[in-house]
Amino acid sequence: MPKSTKTPPKPAKRAAAKSAARNTDSGPSEVGAALFDPNSKKMAQVQKMAAAMPHNLSKSSEHGFANGTNPPRGASVDPPSRLATGSTLSEENGSTKTGSVASAGANATIESLDRVRVDSAGRMLTTNQGVAVADNQNSLKDGLRGPVLLEDFILREKITHFDHERIPERIVHARGSGAHGYFECYEALTDITRAAPFQAAGKVTPVFVRFSTVQGERGSKDTARDVRGFAVKFYTEEGNWDLVGNNIPVFFIQDAMKFPDLVHAVKPEPHHQMPQAASAHDTFWDFVSLMPESTHMLMWVMSDRGIPRSYATMQGFGVHTFRMVNEAGDSVFVKFHWTPKAGTHSLVWDEAVKISGADPDYHRRDLWERIESGNYPEYELGLQVFTEEQAEEFSFDILDATKIVPEELVPVRPVGRMVLDRNPDNFFAETEQVAFCTAHILPGLDFSNDPLLAGRIHSYVDTQISRLGGPNFHEIPINSPIAPVHNNQRDGLHRQAIHRGRVSYEPNSLAGGCPFQAGATQGFVSVPARQTARDEQGKVRAKPEKFADHYTQARLFYESQSPVEQDHIANAFRFELSKVTVPAIRERTVAMLRNASEALAKKVAMGLSIDPLPDPLPLALAEPAPPEVTRSPALSLLARPGDGTLKGRKVALLVAPGVHGASISALQAALVEQGAVARLVGPRIGRMPTADGDTLDADASMENEPGFLFDALVLPDGAEGVAALAQDGHTMEFIKDQFRHCKTILTLGASRSLLAKAGLPAAMDKSHAQGGTGLLFADATAAKEVAAEFIASVARHRHFGREMDPPLL
Ligand code: HEM
Repeated sequence: MPKSTKTPPKPAKRAAAKSAARNTDSGPSEVGAALFDPNSKKMAQVQKMAAAMPHNLSKSSEHGFANGTNPPRGASVDPPSRLATGSTLSEENGSTKTGSVASAGANATIESLDRVRVDSAGRMLTTNQGVAVADNQNSLKDGLRGPVLLEDFILREKITHFDHERIPERIVHARGSGAHGYFECYEALTDITRAAPFQAAGKVTPVFVRFSTVQGERGSKDTARDVRGFAVKFYTEEGNWDLVGNNIPVFFIQDAMKFPDLVHAVKPEPHHQMPQAASAHDTFWDFVSLMPESTHMLMWVMSDRGIPRSYATMQGFGVHTFRMVNEAGDSVFVKFHWTPKAGTHSLVWDEAVKISGADPDYHRRDLWERIESGNYPEYELGLQVFTEEQAEEFSFDILDATKIVPEELVPVRPVGRMVLDRNPDNFFAETEQVAFCTAHILPGLDFSNDPLLAGRIHSYVDTQISRLGGPNFHEIPINSPIAPVHNNQRDGLHRQAIHRGRVSYEPNSLAGGCPFQAGATQGFVSVPARQTARDEQGKVRAKPEKFADHYTQARLFYESQSPVEQDHIANAFRFELSKVTVPAIRERTVAMLRNASEALAKKVAMGLSIDPLPDPLPLALAEPAPPEVTRSPALSLLARPGDGTLKGRKVALLVAPGVHGASISALQAALVEQGAVARLVGPRIGRMPTADGDTLDADASMENEPGFLFDALVLPDGAEGVAALAQDGHTMEFIKDQFRHCKTILTLGASRSLLAKAGLPAAMDKSHAQGGTGLLFADATAAKEVAAEFIASVARHRHFGREMDPPLL
């Protein structure tokens, strides 16, 4: 311990102590007598602080199981003053650049995004060094017609930066769109978890969400048949939690070992890079038909879930079984479910194909426009909670990512809602640079032993090190937590944090032991996995028995669909397999389907002219355990019709010079009132006179906004206007697509003739439309009265009763 001196040392001793304290490469045998200048004061304080830790107080707690599950908080001592822990005595010599001394205990890199937002209003153009640019039009040349000079640092800086604007795209999920929002907890879940977002009713946690497709490149179409990523980053006061899920609750494979194979198979084929953003090709079907565990996932992807109408109308799932852990350390298993308030709605395939040509940004635009117009996408978070003992009894293994836990077996408990209410300011800075990772969890959450999840825990940060150029991407503003960040990680490319002090290791006494380990009460502690089974087994590369049941849940999914959904699944298999060039692969897939559903296999085989049916694939498990549930109505998209509003839906009101204007305006007003986007679509954009002496201003044309981009259609009255529409071939295409895609069409007065011209009546006669056909008729004068009926019909989304395969129209 330093000796305290009451009497100041003599001048000679004082000079020696001062001098010793100014050294950075050796020190005196004794410190303490020199408390009169900053160097020696600091030296004395450091000595005092170090001496207060005569040994590593935490060392004895590093051993044994009990300590491992309940680590203590690390030892620390308060420094005598901030002098003792600083990097430099000159830190108070501030400037407009350095600012002042670091605030005690703070890490400024986690401040809100305002710290990095830039607004250039009223500002002049500068270089990246802040030098004002006088001329942004011309390179510097030797004379008006002379060569450009190498010294033109402004040109070179601009072009060099531009040359490096792109970064590698994500290896999967490259195509995506993001939004900010918040999660609000309904009630405290402290009985099952201590995770920060669930600690109090009404607690609000900021989130950033990125939706994505899996197969395609960054610039690929939104409406590919594919799984959609549904990744949510919760910025909690206890750190970031990423729930990196999909819109489908199961996956193709059971072990991370197969992920690179799956992705290689589904991506464009390597010799010619085709097809883009599509699974309908040889290598994908070759792989999955040799991997029968993919059958369940294939059912989901071939269902309408593979072509959602909007990110706002699809579910999200955590897929794997996770754990929740309460304050006492007791854990339960959980499955996470996001359910959209707007209901689960999808496209139809013909529509998805057409949209991908006319608007490859269909989902990105939809998300952006919903938020800009205040129709905020909203989802309810639900949990399926079950115990380890319950899980043991299930007929399937909860570590198998190709299995769901049917809702009829374990109900989904709503625990909160998520609202996406803010678009990013900058796509690249936020959506492109956001880095999700399944390893990002909080105290109160934990993993299960799902072998697919284990691979993911490794994979994300690993890939992001190359995608985002080094190990410091957690400091990129969109990724930085709002929770304090203090550790001894240092350096690496693009490091931003400037750490005060010289200590970057632990244990230490020179920083008073800080940052110290949090201990079990505040820090993350893994749930001890149960040992019994493992003790009996050695290291092994194999799967548990129940993983071998490849078909029971595929059957459950198919049998739980409505007839129209079953038809769509069969048609999707037919389409995809028809694109396969090798008949043996088609046949193998049909052989696989026979184990899940004979009816489906027959339909698919018929669509591909496979006759006779191939023998079913051999079963990996001859007698799977009988399932608890053989029908789960919750698996049908129709189980979630939504809140019945038109928020975010797009309705086209066709117009042309001479239409009846008042009825169109009345309907447009009624639709807008309901939150719909009701657009006037004409043969061309711009103002046009109406039959009733007014004008309408079309903001879209049938050329730039074809019919399949809309959820419903209104055809106008007014003989002259209708005649003009009849002259334009786009009109009939518009009507045909709306009809074929089973959307609501309201026909006012004279427009009936357009239906006839488009061939609708004949098609209607042939269809088996029962109940509401989605075809409404009214006189222009009754537009207001029919509005409510029209709105209710559009809210039903589709009128599949009139669907025909093949379509007559
Ligand atoms: C072993 C299996 C898997 C591996 C190795 C893996 C790996 C990856 C990788 C490397 C990325 C790109 C990340 C980036 O560049 O930032 C990614 C993205 C993603 N993965 Fe996985 N993945 C696996 C399975 C899954 C599963 C089962 C799901 C769904 C539960 C999933 C959901 C996502 C999502 C949503 C993204 C996009 C994240 C974003 O929006 O940035 N992945 N995955």
